[in-house]
Parts: sequence; C-alpha cells; structure tokens
Amino acid sequence: MSILNDLSKDTVIFISGTPCTGKTTVAANLNDYLSQNGFDSKLIKINDFAIENDLVLGEDPDKFYKVIDIGGLNESLNEEINQGTDDIIIVEGHLSHLCEGADKMIVLRLNPIILKGRLEERNYSASKIQENLEAEALAVCSAEAYEIYGDEVSEIDGTEKSIEEIRDLILDIATDNLECPVGSIDYMEWLLNQ
Ligand SMILES: Nc1ncnc2c1ncn2[C@@H]1O[C@H](COP(=O)(O)OP(=O)(O)O)[C@@H](O)[C@H]1O
Ligand SMILES: [Mg+2]
Repeated sequence: MSILNDLSKDTVIFISGTPCTGKTTVAANLNDYLSQNGFDSKLIKINDFAIENDLVLGEDPDKFYKVIDIGGLNESLNEEINQGTDDIIIVEGHLSHLCEGADKMIVLRLNPIILKGRLEERNYSASKIQENLEAEALAVCSAEAYEIYGDEVSEIDGTEKSIEEIRDLILDIATDNLECPVGSIDYMEWLLNQ
C-alpha cells in the first residue's frame, strides 16, 4: 500500500535548511510527485513569496541575501496558508523555519564536507561558505526551528541520499510513519577538525 494513502489532503510541510542542502530540488520533486499522484499540491518558494509581498527591507553588505521583514513574512504566509483550500502546501526556503504554520517542519541536513562542494559550485565568497558550513555543523536552522516548533521539528540527513529517497522520508514524516527528532544528526566533529 502506498504511503500516499496515509497523507492528509491539507498537510502543510515546511522545508528549511542551510543553503545548498537541497531544499529547492527536493521540494520541487515532492510537489511534482504529489501532483502526479492526484493531490492538489502547491509549492511556495519563500524568497519569491517575500519579494512578491514587498517584504524585502534591504540587502546584506555582501549582497548574498536579502534582508526580509520576518514578522510581515510570517503574517502574509499564514494568511496564504489559512485560505481554507484543501491543498497540500509545501513551503521551501531558508526562512521558512522562522515562520509559524507548518504541520510538519522539516530541516534538511548535510555533511559539511559535501555541503562545501555545493556551496563552492554556487560561487559564494570564501567567508560566506565558511559561515554556512559552521551554521550547518552547529545545526543553526534546527535550533532556530526548535524555538518555534519544539519537539515537532524533524531533521533529515540528505548525505548520500537521492532526491527520491529524501522525498520519501519527507512523506514518511508527513504521514506520521517516521520520527526524526532534532539531535541525532551531529556534524560538530567537522567543526572541531577545522
Ligand atoms: N540529494 C541530492 N543529491 C545530489 N545533489 C543534490 C541533491 N539535492 C540537491 N542536490 C544539488 O545540490 C545543489 C543545491 O540544491 P538546492 O536544491 O538548490 O539547495 P537549496 O535550495 O537548499 O539551496 C544543486 O546543484 C542540486 O542539484
Ligand atoms: Mg533553494
């Protein structure tokens, strides 16, 4: 029996994580997969959503990311989520864990050694790469998500997993068939070896 039989038609799934952990790729795959299997599924890319809703306050000095009005984002996003439509909503992006409204708050994790290669391919500056690697090793996203969602936060380690495998783990979590509480993925050793 397919795991999809267990999936509520109005589940709200947030996918966050350090840049380059695979959020955008996995969220698009999940959205397509659900649509192909007869679900009404909607994907919100939180950065685009913030821009569309005029919530950009400025740019950081390195121009690597935009400074977003998080209070306004939380408000607008929850208006969108609570429109009462019977859709699965997937919200992906590095700001999603700072917002309320998820039924399932999922943080993607990745071994910093692998993450480094992906960040380098995206042409981040050396200092931004280091900052993101340290954030990943310290589980900053998970800790921030925990402040809002507590024990409801799930972590998936995407290291050496295909996009489909990660998608299926998200579905296992979304259907309460799997628990992945914060704390079992530990990349502190990478930091200590720096
Ligand atoms: N499971 C995976 N295995 C291998 N490469 C992946 C996987 N998921 C994502 N990637 C690659 O990693 C890079 C960053 O992925 P992306 O989805 O853009 O991350 P994010 O949205 O978290 O910044 C892309 O080049 C993507 O193709
Ligand atoms: Mg992305």
